[in-house]
Amino acid sequence: MKKLIKKVMETRKILVTGSAGFMGSWIADTLVKMGNEVYGIDNLSGGNIENNSGDYELFTIDLAVASQVERVIKKVKPEIIFHLASCAREGASQFQPLYVTQTNFQAFMNLIEPAIKHGLNKLCLFSSMAVYGSQEPPFDERMPCIPEDIYGINKAAMEHTTEVLADVHEFDYAILRPHNVMGERQCLTDKFRNVIAIFMNRIMRNEPLYIYGDGEQIRAFSYIEDSLPCYVKCIENDINGEIINIGGMKPISINHLADLVCEAMDVPKDYPRVYLPPRPREVKEAWCKWDKSVNHLRYEEKVGYEEGILRMAEWAKKKCPQEWTDEKMPLENDKMPETWR
Ligand SMILES: NC(=O)c1ccc[n+]([C@@H]2O[C@H](COP(=O)([O-])OP(=O)(O)OC[C@H]3O[C@@H](n4cnc5c(N)ncnc54)[C@H](O)[C@@H]3O)[C@@H](O)[C@H]2O)c1
Repeated sequence: MKKLIKKVMETRKILVTGSAGFMGSWIADTLVKMGNEVYGIDNLSGGNIENNSGDYELFTIDLAVASQVERVIKKVKPEIIFHLASCAREGASQFQPLYVTQTNFQAFMNLIEPAIKHGLNKLCLFSSMAVYGSQEPPFDERMPCIPEDIYGINKAAMEHTTEVLADVHEFDYAILRPHNVMGERQCLTDKFRNVIAIFMNRIMRNEPLYIYGDGEQIRAFSYIEDSLPCYVKCIENDINGEIINIGGMKPISINHLADLVCEAMDVPKDYPRVYLPPRPREVKEAWCKWDKSVNHLRYEEKVGYEEGILRMAEWAKKKCPQEWTDEKMPLENDKMPETWR
């Protein structure tokens, strides 16, 4: 009993990078509620200051700038880091490879070196199922990393770097590979990522849904509140040295997803859809095994993706139609989908 009370009462100093983003903000708020001393880092490139509850200190710095990161780490000296900050544009990463690498791998290196120097105890690294590439699904954590795109290459490099540095410098780690997560607070304005958010914003703007290829690509979607307990459970000492897929227990096609989003957004299923050529290097089928998340982190789909889409739609409707972020890619050419130019 004494041990249990100690475990519940224990306050840890935790840094969450990407804390103004979708998943990072949910995680930071939950860690605060659990009684931890929480700090956030975000440069607001993909997140939104509205996602910041104000219950913890937010450093608005760019992780790609080493001197800024060193200054914050020296001040905070985090015991645990949840590293989520990223430019998570998988398809578009072929058209801005330098930026995606600076804000993923380079940013991670800028973070991990001072963190180790200042006493890092544990790293919870948010990777992606993009590391599996086009191997035969369901993806199992023991499969090799054979990413198809620049984003996946960056995530695989961060995973490998974590394993090497954790071994040498003796800190604990958990590597999480979440599945297509959605829910309230997800960015609705980025035309390069988050298919559900894009569909919702397009419907609110009376624009047709763009579907790349035949729409029979298979993915598995998960709702943030189902995955959240697993993410924060990673601070526990017995979760160490593991790579774990989280979320998405039921694979569905993008066409079926479009039906569900139309229903949730109160438009008929025959709402206009435009079928476009497949995007370069897009994986046709991507879904994972989830047994390890159930065994190690007690993953459960209490809400599920169907109800999750309904909840997100209610939230999106209140946000109203949003302007798309206007951004030019450095490698904008005829290889790039026309819808992105
Ligand atoms: N959402 C998903 O479906 C999903 C699936 C698999 C993996 N992931 C991973 O989970 C993490 C969080 O994803 P998300 O969906 O919450 O994304 P998000 O874009 O909402 O959050 C990422 C945050 O990082 C911040 N950021 C980006 N570059 C930065 C930099 N250089 N310095 C400081 N802050 C920076 C952004 O402003 C943003 O707020 C990412 O690492 C992503 O790769 C997400």
